[in-house]
Amino acid sequence: MNFARLLMERCDELGAITDEPGRITRTFASPAMRRANKLVGAWMREAGLQVREDAAFNLIGRWNSTQRGAKTFLLGSHLDTVRDAGRYDGPLGVLTAIAAVQSLKARGVVLPFNVEIVGFSDEEGVRYQTAYLGSRAFAGTLTAADLARIEEKQIVKARRNHKEFLGYAEVHIEQGPVLEKHNLPVAVVTAIAGQSRLRVEFHGTAGHAGTVPMPMRHDALAGAAEFILAVESLAKSKSGLVATVGKIEAMPGASNVISGKTALTLDVRDQQDARRLAAVKALRAKAGAIAKRRGLKLTWTPVQQTAAVQCDKTLTRIFSKCVARRGLTVLKLPSGAGHDGAALAAMCPVAMLFVRCKGGISHNPAESVKAADAGVGVAVLAEFVERLAKEYA
Ligand code: GLV
Ligand code: MN
Ligand code: MN
Repeated sequence: MNFARLLMERCDELGAITDEPGRITRTFASPAMRRANKLVGAWMREAGLQVREDAAFNLIGRWNSTQRGAKTFLLGSHLDTVRDAGRYDGPLGVLTAIAAVQSLKARGVVLPFNVEIVGFSDEEGVRYQTAYLGSRAFAGTLTAADLARIEEKQIVKARRNHKEFLGYAEVHIEQGPVLEKHNLPVAVVTAIAGQSRLRVEFHGTAGHAGTVPMPMRHDALAGAAEFILAVESLAKSKSGLVATVGKIEAMPGASNVISGKTALTLDVRDQQDARRLAAVKALRAKAGAIAKRRGLKLTWTPVQQTAAVQCDKTLTRIFSKCVARRGLTVLKLPSGAGHDGAALAAMCPVAMLFVRCKGGISHNPAESVKAADAGVGVAVLAEFVERLAKEYA
């Protein structure tokens, strides 16, 4: 069977499941996510896996080892998406894992460990602005603050025993242009950047756009606008730092009303935690100064802090060997994007493989992956699992 072709067809089919007609949007626990779990669950069953959905809406397909008391190796990625997403960010990794397992089974491979393929339910954090709800529930690292923010309190029941697991490996599109530049289909990931997500609000005074003189205004939206440019300017001045305001809401939101309150999201990332935390501190001071000068009130609410994670050296070495065996240069790359591995690192060693995507474009419906590159991903992941089996035999 041509597993790569099947995988690409499945990415297309999954891309039709959405909460917003006309574009791909599947957020945590939404009706579309539940439908996606049903479809991918059917594909997992076809691959001979035992399928269930856990309390955090993670989809789990299990391949039991013939060895009694065997531990479990995790494969997977996420099935939620950003708004107006591409077809590959997340699904490619889940479907690659299914294809790899299918190819191992077709060759009669027997493993000394169980394999669980997980389609995590919330890597993007779109629903609650806080990422990794599914994988953090799985790893048992949700905080009281996380639970206070969400409706689905039962997700804590998805917690698994760390002792069950040998490790986690994820295939994901690169979401950047480096593989294309090097003309390579895959890269081995060294680390996942840490991220801070915050909600920032400027509170001013709503007023009449025609009557309040300019010097007398306390315009929350104008304060937010000044802050957004300060965010961009700080991030541009520091190498390795990226910072984004991706969502802004001006209230009450009318063309003839001065905004009395403007809320925005802030996302700050760096491979080095100290640099990220220093940037968040500097931005807070900047927001405070802007608010003061403009007679506004500032509220600054951290929503999420995830530390940078190093990929496991042993698992990464195995991935590198599998790539090299195909006659490919082993390119090693850090990930600026977040991945479920960052949450799972709290419970087991993690490793990742990137697959080239066209123009490095992601979080965009134009995301595009070549079938041949997806095929390399499947082959490398299958060989990775086989090599692991030798290590644990
Ligand atoms: C997920 O794609 C993230 O990095 O925010
Ligand atoms: Mn992703
Ligand atoms: Mn993403």
